[in-house]
Order: sequence, then structure tokens, then C-alpha cells
Amino acid sequence: MKSLATTYLGLPVRSPLIAGASPLADDIGKVKALEDAGAGAVVMHSLFEEQITSEQLSEFSHTESLSEAFGEFSSFFPHMEDYALGPDRYLEQISKIKASCDLPVVASLNGTSAGGWIDYAHLMEQAGADAVELNVYYIATDVMESGSQVERRVYDIVEQVVGSVKIPVAVKLSPFYSSPGHFVTQLDALGAAGVVLFNRFYQPDIDIEEMEASHRLDLSNSTELRMRLRWAAILHGRVNCDLILNGGVHTVQDVIKAIMCGASSVQTVAALLKYGPSHMADILEDLKFWMDEHEYESVAHMRGCMSLLKCPDPGIYERANYMKILQLWKA
Ligand SMILES: Cc1cc2nc3c(=O)[nH]c(=O)nc-3n(C[C@H](O)[C@H](O)[C@H](O)COP(=O)(O)O)c2cc1C
Repeated sequence: MKSLATTYLGLPVRSPLIAGASPLADDIGKVKALEDAGAGAVVMHSLFEEQITSEQLSEFSHTESLSEAFGEFSSFFPHMEDYALGPDRYLEQISKIKASCDLPVVASLNGTSAGGWIDYAHLMEQAGADAVELNVYYIATDVMESGSQVERRVYDIVEQVVGSVKIPVAVKLSPFYSSPGHFVTQLDALGAAGVVLFNRFYQPDIDIEEMEASHRLDLSNSTELRMRLRWAAILHGRVNCDLILNGGVHTVQDVIKAIMCGASSVQTVAALLKYGPSHMADILEDLKFWMDEHEYESVAHMRGCMSLLKCPDPGIYERANYMKILQLWKA
């Protein structure tokens, strides 16, 4: 049987299948189950800039500070007690996982502006995290803010985080930059060890009777992977950093497609929430079987064979695909 061993952000890992950021890592039993199932690494849920800033402010002024920090908008944010783990408990959880499991643990830091909250990257490292995943989830609602200003802010945050830790840093991105490929090349140059493609945007729906936004988290399905495949294919061979696909990885076919397009590894969440950690073992077993049947020696051997540089029909990733698909449609 083939070995699935590879690297994740430069760390040696048993497999290219990573448990993405989710509440799964809040429970040590589930992390152990993921380790037993063959996960390469586990990403913890995010510690948010708003959480850290609020705690720092309340320590300073002894007030319930979210409302002071964010004024009327504070009601849109969760209350402090709604977060699974506060900043201190988050750091404790890193140490607890490290004490009871052997797989690499990735702490997730989530925010949008350069500032003091970024010091947590260093605290995460001190607590034992093997890597940091920086999530820069941001909706550009200010129409006066240009794309380059939005991008500049991300560069500043990444520079600050990369400069403050020795462990590798991955950046989890949105697909909504005007030139995502160029953006990734810049993050690569700033020292990001990997990019996670892409954040899944949770769009609010509207309740037309109550006249309010309704918040519902619908889990992904495999069709969402296609946009990620395209960008892995475009970027493979163009950057040094890892290309980690996230969003819509549910089956072994999804994993194979991602690697063929150039992914270094993939993260999965919805499938694990739906079917439990043992689903990971099933996928990995199927992956070994498939690689044996198709005579792939290793994950590296398979990686990138369907990328833009190597694919026999690169037009599938470009404008030609769009035109062809529109022409082929029949009622
Ligand atoms: C319940 C739940 C909690 C999540 N929490 C986080 C989080 O704290 N930080 C983060 O970056 N992503 C978080 N995500 C997003 C996932 O990491 C992932 O990007 C997304 O679910 C797409 O992957 P999937 O299609 O495999 O589910 C969460 C997703 C779910 C379903």
C-alpha cells in the first residue's frame, strides 16, 4: 500500500487530509479520533480579533467593552459568553491537545486590522501550536475603500504575524480579490507558508415577515470545490507556498481532484461534522486504494498533473471554458 505521508506548511504529516477550523478541536476526544483516523493535522476554531480586543479593553477599563469598542454595531457580534473559548482558555486548549495527541495543531487567528491582537500569534506559538492559520475574513462594505487598500491591510497583518513567530503561518483567503493569483504571489513573497483557498462566505438571508436578517449555516457540498480547483490549477508551480484547498471536500474524488490540480493538501469540515471523524479514515483508505490502482507512487507524484501548466487542455480554466459552457447548454 502507498504511503500518504507528505508535508503541511513544511511540517511532516501522515496524510494530506487536514481537519479544517471548526468546533471539533474543542473536544480532545474528537481530536484523538481524528488522529486515529489519519488526519495530517487539526486546525482549531478561530480566536477572533473582536474577542481579544474586547478582553484587552475590559482589562483596561473594567467595563463590558464590546459595546464601547463597537458602539451600536456591538449587538451584531456574539456575546463573550457565546464564544466557545475565551483567549486564555484558547491557549490552554492548545497545550491540552499537544499534551494528549501527536498530530500537528494549527491555531487560528481571525481578524482584519493590524494591531495588538496579533500578539496572540506569539502566545499561540508559546502554548505549543505547530502553526498559525490567519483568517482575514472581511466584507468590503465601505464603497470608498479601494481594492488595493483592502489588500494592503492584509499584507500588513501578514507581515506582522510572520515577523512575530517562528512557526509557519498560513493565510485563509476569500476568493473575492480582483486578481486572487497575484494576491497569493504577494503573500508568498511576504513569507506565508501556505494559503488556504478559500473561506466560505456565509451569506445572510432575509426574513421578509420579521424584516430582519436570518443567520443560518448551510453546510457545503462538493460543487463548491470547483472554484477552488481552478485556483489551485492556476497557481500550481507559480508560488513556493503550500496551496491548501478548503471548501467542498467531501469525498475521495474531491481529494484526488484537488491534488491533481496542485493542492499540497486539503482541509475538510462539513463532511466530518456530518459523518464524524471516522469519515476521514474511509476517505484515506479509498485514496490509498485508488492510488494503487492508478499506480501513483505518492501524493507528490499525483500533484499538479491537471494544473494549468501541465493540463492537456488549459482552456478549461480560462475564458474558453465559460464560452463553451454557455454554447453547450440545451433546454
Ligand atoms: C460549525 C463551523 C464552525 C466553523 N468555525 C470556523 C472558525 O472558527 N474559523 C474558520 O476559519 N473557519 C471556520 N469554519 C469554516 C471551515 O473551516 C471551512 O472553511 C468551511 O466549513 C468550508 O469547508 P467545508 O466545505 O469542508 O465545510 C467553520 C465551519 C463550520 C461549519
